[in-house]
Amino acid sequence: MADHLQNIDLSEYPYINRGLEGIVAFSTTKSFIDGAKGELIYSGYNIDTLAENATFEEVCFLLWNDRLPDAGELNELNSRLQAERELPEVVLNYIRNTDKNSEPMAVLRTAVSMLQDFQPADAVDTDHAIAMTAKMPTIIAAFDRVRNGLDVVAPVKKGSTAFNFLYMLNGEEPGTASERTMDLCLVLHAEHGMNASTFTCRAVCSTESEIFSAVTAAIGSLKGPLHGGANTAVMNTLLKLKDDQGEGADPVAFTLSKLEKKEKIMGFGHRVYKVLDPRATHLRKMSKSLSDETGHEYLYNWSEAMVKTMKEEKNIDPNVDFFSATVYYSLGIVPDLYTCIFAMSRISGWTAHFFEQKENNRLIRPRALYVAEKNKPWIPAEKR
Ligand code: ACO
Repeated sequence: MADHLQNIDLSEYPYINRGLEGIVAFSTTKSFIDGAKGELIYSGYNIDTLAENATFEEVCFLLWNDRLPDAGELNELNSRLQAERELPEVVLNYIRNTDKNSEPMAVLRTAVSMLQDFQPADAVDTDHAIAMTAKMPTIIAAFDRVRNGLDVVAPVKKGSTAFNFLYMLNGEEPGTASERTMDLCLVLHAEHGMNASTFTCRAVCSTESEIFSAVTAAIGSLKGPLHGGANTAVMNTLLKLKDDQGEGADPVAFTLSKLEKKEKIMGFGHRVYKVLDPRATHLRKMSKSLSDETGHEYLYNWSEAMVKTMKEEKNIDPNVDFFSATVYYSLGIVPDLYTCIFAMSRISGWTAHFFEQKENNRLIRPRALYVAEKNKPWIPAEKR
């Protein structure tokens, strides 16, 4: 579709902002991003501090309550999440019977939407947030098992979200290193300001609709390749390079040719960060050590070569999705699940923003500049 604004003198319309870049529409206690310094804070805590110390469950509590839990509160949240992991039979049947070729994110979106019907009548928003956080990993793992002709592995009522997810996906308990890697990925993806899916979640909340609709819409928003879908696209790009050229592929020539064709390279660039995304720093380290351990050094080396070329040619850095792709691949997870894993973490941030929006709501309702004709004469169908 044509970009009408390209033909318009925007100085006449100073209030127009394509992509709402830089517009502050809300106040929040959930996260702060300094795009020039590469700093990310979740409710007071630097992402580096959380990456070194926090579990995903602690981050959920932090985002929902703006403070860390004490030991008793953390135990209670862990127990509630463990108790809520099982899916209603109707949702499991949907997963069993849907098309095996469906996109996992589409299945996740539909299944999360269905969950609303099975919540107790007296459940409140925090109960719903816990239920969705607990059940999303089960939905993702169950669909992956079913589409591969395997039995669904029932969740266990013990261990972390990361532990249980890998257990349900693979049918065997993960080692401590894999569990910690997955947990760290969940910590790093939990919250990130007014990104497209969080904005979507808040926009739905602002109409006084309910939390399942807001999260369902947010999942749809995250699915796009310019947002969360980029991690799947990154891995598919690397695997295609391997298929086309083998392990001796030339990632620099590949990157340059894409740039020459003015094609975007997935996993690079960010609306807010103008320096390296601090989450990418952690994922980069994980990607290096896991690639070495699992014999995928070439993938890590290609990634680094692409990073160098993008910096030299465009001064663009990798974002969170670039190195997360090779981390998940080294954990043995197939690429089309990567965006689902992102969603399974970001549910914490989405729901935290839902609570915040609801507490101090104003309908989100921007405007668009009308650029077509007005008051055209009506011509009957047979004369058009
Ligand atoms: N590859 C090549 N060039 C790029 C890339 C990229 N990944 N990203 C930005 N650029 C270039 C654009 O071509 C443009 O160049 P030009 O000024 O010469 O035309 C310039 O950088 C600005 O790019 P925009 O797309 O206008 O920047 P915007 O802020 O709108 O987009 C976005 C940010 C969508 C993330 C973009 O960088 C992109 O498409 N990246 C690839 C997809 C991706 O990785 N998305 C995940 C983002 S992180 C997340 O959502 C979890």
